[in-house]
Amino acid sequence: MRPTDLTGRTLLTRAEDTEYVKDTPDLFSSNDPNTPMERAFRAHTLMRKDGAEHQAERGAMAPAFTARNIKTCWEPIYTKIAEDYVARLPKGEVVDLFPTLAGPFAARCLTHLLGIPEASDDDLRRWSQILIDGAGNFGWSDALFAECDKANDEMDALFAAAADRLRADPDQSAMSVMINAEDPIAQSQIWSNIKIAIGGGINEPRDALLTIIYGLLSNPDQFAACKEDGMWMQAFEEGVRWVAPIQVSSRLVTDDTEIHGFHIPKGDGVMTIQASANWDEKIYGDTGHLFDIHRAKVPHQAFGNGPHFCQGTHVARRMLANIMLPLLFDRFPDMELADPAAVDFYGFGVRGPRHLPVLLK
Ligand code: HEM
Repeated sequence: MRPTDLTGRTLLTRAEDTEYVKDTPDLFSSNDPNTPMERAFRAHTLMRKDGAEHQAERGAMAPAFTARNIKTCWEPIYTKIAEDYVARLPKGEVVDLFPTLAGPFAARCLTHLLGIPEASDDDLRRWSQILIDGAGNFGWSDALFAECDKANDEMDALFAAAADRLRADPDQSAMSVMINAEDPIAQSQIWSNIKIAIGGGINEPRDALLTIIYGLLSNPDQFAACKEDGMWMQAFEEGVRWVAPIQVSSRLVTDDTEIHGFHIPKGDGVMTIQASANWDEKIYGDTGHLFDIHRAKVPHQAFGNGPHFCQGTHVARRMLANIMLPLLFDRFPDMELADPAAVDFYGFGVRGPRHLPVLLK
């Protein structure tokens, strides 16, 4: 039996193969028409484009993500948001950090980066989930697409108002740099790429933050070393390696090809499983499944590879490793897991704990 008989796609689990596929876009295209993303977003987003078209759209958003803007624009805003959200947490009590901290923090930071701070945390989280569900609506459920349409109407109305404001008063946000560019890309593409950032920019930092906190609290020696030596960046990289927030990506094969002698015909789909690549025995021996911040530094694939490499990588590092983790554990240095059995990692395409109850000490 060919592996595709069960999944409809060839699954690639080795680090060298997932990297090869993402680094070879001519043969493994992102433009896979068999996914419901276009219907869910009411447009083709940059994640499903190749070559010059992809470059033009990615480039349009890029000025918002420069190192300079991260430092001068987003770091001060994110620090203030982190301080406010951490200050709201009640000392001495048990709280679930998913709804009280990780979700709202990720959403609020993203509204500023994208240029839509008038969106509420709840709206942004709801839209993000609907878009993700719609993009994964492989059963082509009409009811789910109807929810996507409603969310798209709400987003389009909010984007139009934000664009008017940003035309009059530009800033460094993704929406502003796109609409105020000398030669702007089409408005439909500006809207859909803001939507892909909403779909991709909340869950991943949220899930990464919860995973890292869980990794530290369930490994007290590492938690102590982390606080002692300020190893927050190591904890961040290890957390996203350990449980990759985006576990899989799909690509379309543009010509007959072979991987390790296995024939993959033109028109087939492949899935790169970065969750597996990040545990590859050839790189991590038999310890890939363990959280270990002292691990020797080797590149992981949590942010992908090739032309679609995550555009928000440095923003995510700054948000979590430089801002949130040190601040959170400065206020609650003796935080404990309140109910380890309640920490439920969930999801195949995107993954993280749905609950993280902790005692805030
Ligand atoms: C820990 C946090 C994050 C992780 C693990 C992550 C992971 C990824 C991965 C694996 C991809 C590539 C998908 C593929 O190859 O098909 C990607 C793409 C992308 N990410 Fe992230 N992401 C994170 C945070 C963010 C944030 C905060 C933003 C901010 C808006 C963001 C924006 C994007 C965009 C726009 C793309 C599409 C890039 C393209 O297609 O050219 N990500 N992300």
